[in-house]
Amino acid sequence: YGTIGIIGAMQEEIELVLARLEDRQTEKHAGIVYHRGSFQGKKVVLTRSGVGKVNAAVCTQVMIDRYGADAIIFTGVAGAVDPQLDIGDIVISTSSLQHDVDVTALGFPRGTIPYQEVSEYPADARLIALAAEAGQKVFPDRSHTGKVLSGDQFIADRAVVKALYEQLGGACTEMEGASVAQVCYMNDVPHVIIRSMSDKADGSAHVNFAEFTIEAANRSYAIVEEMIKAI
Ligand code: ADE
Repeated sequence: YGTIGIIGAMQEEIELVLARLEDRQTEKHAGIVYHRGSFQGKKVVLTRSGVGKVNAAVCTQVMIDRYGADAIIFTGVAGAVDPQLDIGDIVISTSSLQHDVDVTALGFPRGTIPYQEVSEYPADARLIALAAEAGQKVFPDRSHTGKVLSGDQFIADRAVVKALYEQLGGACTEMEGASVAQVCYMNDVPHVIIRSMSDKADGSAHVNFAEFTIEAANRSYAIVEEMIKAI
């Protein structure tokens, strides 16, 4: 790859890459700060997008247009949707969709944007393989692949998370991945989303999130580091 884009939504999610970024150059576009530099000997552009789909979408397009990012990796934390997943487990996206897109009144399935050729955005096969290999190396038995469900909602309700699992079959839920994936899809740029579980999106989610976010963010980082070493 020419330039690898690395995005996290929150400071905790980019912190460890930022600390290791060499020859750092920083610029701001549309209110978001971009750090160019070298990470594990690879040319990268790193940013904290801010929370939510619009922030992540804007940031992804800027990375592609202004920094020539030709692969994008999202790193961060998520709420587990698959009841088999535990806090700390890793999810590597195979695809993602926006669970808060709801045009069901017009007959479109939940999560489907009308008149668009795909209802989910597939992650890139090579980036999935690199992430899966990194997962096997760093956290064997705790690394999984699956569908990421994104929405502008912090999910903290057992019934809501159960419905997400039953209706959409997701592995985890967060607030940015599928918008990054959509922008990558529109620009024909490969991407993958890496998430470590900070909570189970249930009634305890806010407490777990506060307690486990840093640890989960660092676990996601460990995958990214290993992946980029192998690229
Ligand atoms: N990110 C981490 N946990 C989450 C949750 N429960 N809902 C949405 N985004 C999250």
